Amino acid sequence: MKTLLISGSRNPQGQTAQAMDAVRKGLSNKGASTETVFLPPLKIERCRQCDEGGWGLCRKEGQCVIADDLSGLVEKIRQADAVVVATPVYYSDLSESLRAFLDRLRRLCTHETGRQSIKGKPLMGVCVAGGGGGGAPACCLSLEKIMSTCGFEVVDLIPVRRQNLQSKLPILELAGQGLAENR
Ligand SMILES: Cc1cc2nc3c(=O)[nH]c(=O)nc-3n(C[C@H](O)[C@H](O)[C@H](O)COP(=O)(O)O)c2cc1C
Repeated sequence: MKTLLISGSRNPQGQTAQAMDAVRKGLSNKGASTETVFLPPLKIERCRQCDEGGWGLCRKEGQCVIADDLSGLVEKIRQADAVVVATPVYYSDLSESLRAFLDRLRRLCTHETGRQSIKGKPLMGVCVAGGGGGGAPACCLSLEKIMSTCGFEVVDLIPVRRQNLQSKLPILELAGQGLAENR
């Protein structure tokens, strides 16, 4: 089983990465292969809201007019059997790099062609509130909403806060194992 892990954190050694590493360990324990992508270094523009009505080529063809790193990442998603998305919690919500990516992915997925090999794909989300510790559940809700709109099967969403990160690592590992086993 191939799993793609997507992180909205700019910090490869940070709290979000720690949480994601635990999920990755669980996946690997059960024989799943993993690839990790960090969004901040990628070139992913925000949606241009093409056309007067705000709908663009994406609605008609499931493609985006912007030539950047989006299409390569979408292809990786299509090739994967399951996807894990992890984000640091910013303002009780998704990080900006993840938001920019998902805003455009959601539009592609409004069209049948864009939804291809995404619809029904299992997805797990992890939201890490690493400051005061508030907002992880609200961030999970945001993620659930946009991922369901894209057509993923959202199988799990795990809110984590700085204060419980260490105690949640075994749970995250088990969740990774579960994701691999349920395929
Ligand atoms: C713009 C911004 C907003 C933030 N909002 C929250 C928040 O709502 N709740 C919280 O606990 N931490 C908040 N934080 C702290 C981040 O969640 C914390 O730095 C993050 O977990 C770090 O993840 P990382 O180690 O992967 O970079 C915020 C940080 C930034 C930069």
